[in-house]
Parts: sequence; C-alpha cells; structure tokens
Amino acid sequence: MTARPIPATPPESPSYRYLGRSGLKVPKLALGTMMFGGPTDEATSHRIISKAKDQSFFFLDTADAYQGGLTEEIVGRAIRSDRDGFVLATKFANPAGAGPNRQGISRKWVIEATEASLRRLGTDHIDILYFHRAIFDAPLGEAVRAVADLVRAGKVRYFGLSNFRGWCIAEVAHLADQFGIDRPVASQPLYNIVDRTAEVEQLPAAHHYGLGVVSYSPLARGVLTGKYRPGAAPEAESRAGRGDRRILETEWRAESIGIAESIARHAAERGIPAATFALSWVLNNSRVTAAIAGPRTEAQWDAYVAALDYSFTAEDEALVASLVPDGHVSTPFYTDPSHPVEGRVPLTGGGDATARVAARAQERVAERIARAG
Ligand SMILES: NC(=O)c1ccc[n+]([C@@H]2O[C@H](COP(=O)([O-])OP(=O)(O)OC[C@H]3O[C@@H](n4cnc5c(N)ncnc54)[C@H](OP(=O)(O)O)[C@@H]3O)[C@@H](O)[C@H]2O)c1
Repeated sequence: MTARPIPATPPESPSYRYLGRSGLKVPKLALGTMMFGGPTDEATSHRIISKAKDQSFFFLDTADAYQGGLTEEIVGRAIRSDRDGFVLATKFANPAGAGPNRQGISRKWVIEATEASLRRLGTDHIDILYFHRAIFDAPLGEAVRAVADLVRAGKVRYFGLSNFRGWCIAEVAHLADQFGIDRPVASQPLYNIVDRTAEVEQLPAAHHYGLGVVSYSPLARGVLTGKYRPGAAPEAESRAGRGDRRILETEWRAESIGIAESIARHAAERGIPAATFALSWVLNNSRVTAAIAGPRTEAQWDAYVAALDYSFTAEDEALVASLVPDGHVSTPFYTDPSHPVEGRVPLTGGGDATARVAARAQERVAERIARAG
C-alpha cells in the first residue's frame, strides 16, 4: 500500500479502529460465523448477526469452506436488507470439492472461488477477501495479481492474509508494491493465551508492513472458558464432545486445560468468567486490532460482548506471562497439523514433514480420547 500515514490523531471512536493503514474502520470484536449452519441453526445465526449489528459490532468473518458453503448463504440472507452496514470478510484457498483446481491460489481458483462466495453471500462485493491458508500451489504473484483484478473489477474492496508466517506477509507486501497495488490490510492469525506463537513473527510483521491484526480463536476454541476438565471426557454438546477434528488436533491439550483452570481461578477472584479474562488478554495487546468471536449460541455472543467491559490489569498480564511466556505455546512438542513446519526436508530418512506431523497429531488425538475415556 502506498503510504497513507495514519493521521497523528485518528478520529477513533470507542466503537471502531482503523484496520492497518487503510481507511477501513472496524470494531474491536468481529463476529465469526464458523458455527452458523452447523451446530448453530439459521434462526439463531440471524438473531446473533442482527444483535451484533445493533450493538455496533458490524464486522463479520466467514469463509467459503465453512459448513460446505452453507455459512456464507446464511450470512448473505442475514445481511441482505443492510449489506453496506457491514464489513464483510470471507476467505478462499481451502479445498472446495474434488479436482486439483478447486483449492489453493491459482488465478483460476481465486476468481472462481470468489465468484462462488459472491453468489452464496448474495452480494456484488466482499469488503475483505483473505487467503485462508498459505497453500502455495501457484506462484504467489499470480494470486496477488488475481486479487488485484477482483479489486479493480469492484468485486473486492481490500484483501488480507490468514495463517501466513512473517516472511509470507513480507513477500505479499513487496509483491503488492512491485505491482503498484495496495498492500493487504489485515493479517488473521490464531492467537490466544495457550498459543502465543503469533507474537514471534506474524504480529511484528503485520505491524511493520502496515496490516491490521484480526486474530481468531481467542478462547482457544472454548478451552479457555475453563469448561474442560483434566482427564475427563468433554460434555457432549461442547466442540470437543461433538468430536470436532480441529479442536481435538489442536487446543484440547492437557497442558492447555490445566492452564485454563489456573486462569479460571484467577478470574473468579476478580469476579469475572475465565472467557472474559481470555478475550481481554488478546485485546490488551496494542498489536491486535480486533479479535474474532466464535459463538455457537446467543448467550455465548452476549458473554463475548460483556467481556469488553473488563479493564485488564498489570497483574493479569503478569499472570499470563508466568503461565505461557511471550511467543510460546503451552505444550511441548506441539505443532498444528494444518500448519506444519517446513524447514526440515531430510536428505536421508524422515520422509515427508507434513505426513510426519499429521501422523503424530493423529496419535495424540487417539491418546487424548483414550485417556479421557
Ligand atoms: N482463519 C482461520 O484459519 C480461522 C480458524 C478458526 C476460526 N476462524 C474464525 O474465527 C472465529 C472464532 O474462532 P473460534 O470459534 O475458534 O473462537 P473461540 O472464541 O476460541 O472459540 C469459540 C467456541 O468456544 C465455545 N465458547 C464460546 N463462548 C463460550 C462461553 N461463554 N462458555 C462456554 N463455551 C464457550 C463455543 O464452543 P462450544 O460451546 O461448541 O464448545 C464456541 O464455538 C470463527 O468463527 C471463524 O470466523 C478463522
């Protein structure tokens, strides 16, 4: 993005912030819609979206991959009567069916996936189009140019990068400069108390290159509410209890559940729910523009909103640093199988790194389920 400096005294309001160096204003809580059309039925999804809008939380996060496209359809129907009152973000790159060209970042798929999102959302433009993951099955420059064409065609207003490491954020910023187009405005990493790895690369890179940070999973997919117990089977209606693959592969870890218990005790002494503490911690980082809530129920949405009233203290900040140091993850030897480490490609032995990490993740999930009975 050609330098448009943020005004020295931006006309911020308590209800919005600028997203990176763009002129787009967003509230500090975005409404994530990943559950809509799955465990959250359409009527409840619509009620939550409408309530959020009335409360000035007009920032919606969705993706083409959520619930096989149904989520976008539900979101589209919910916002139809007031489309421009929302900042609407969606994502592409995850597989959307069989065939090598129905995923990733080729020009063909970037354009087809976006056209399909527009149809499902029932709108003629997307406010922020994210690369969902760093799937580099085509040259990055090809994808960035395709997104720029969508912007020129009026179908996309801004673009963003989700789950991109620091060097990838830098690369896209430089490609945008080279092509004479605006830089991405947002980075969307996972960020919560039990996984602080975004602090190492993603948050500083976003800051340096002028991207706002819109982070996801502030409650570690529910673990930081303190509702999971060490060694106990999860409640059937919870995300882990429903057998959600992603939480079982990632946040539902013994170490994180133990840390959540410490957080819950500390929060209780302050008269607040653990979830309030966890969300407030994310937002107490000036490198974060907005956190994305992921409610399954209307009551959960109310709890995210209520959390914004809490004033985070220095003591609170110190507690977290004592549990998980800056830049670290709660758990030794842990890697999210969706984001494998790519820096070791052994000449002899070892095999494919992605397959190794996936196999280890499978073992860990099986171990945890067996332990929880
Ligand atoms: N870019 C990406 O790769 C990516 C990845 C994941 C998510 N996202 C986005 O980020 C959004 C939020 O992610 P997330 O869902 O993982 O967020 P999260 O806030 O960490 O977890 C949300 C889940 O925690 C549980 N929960 C929430 N409030 C609760 C409360 N008060 N009491 C008890 N349980 C509560 C609910 O699950 P249960 O009640 O069902 O257990 C809820 O669905 C998504 O909707 C999506 O838009 C993006």
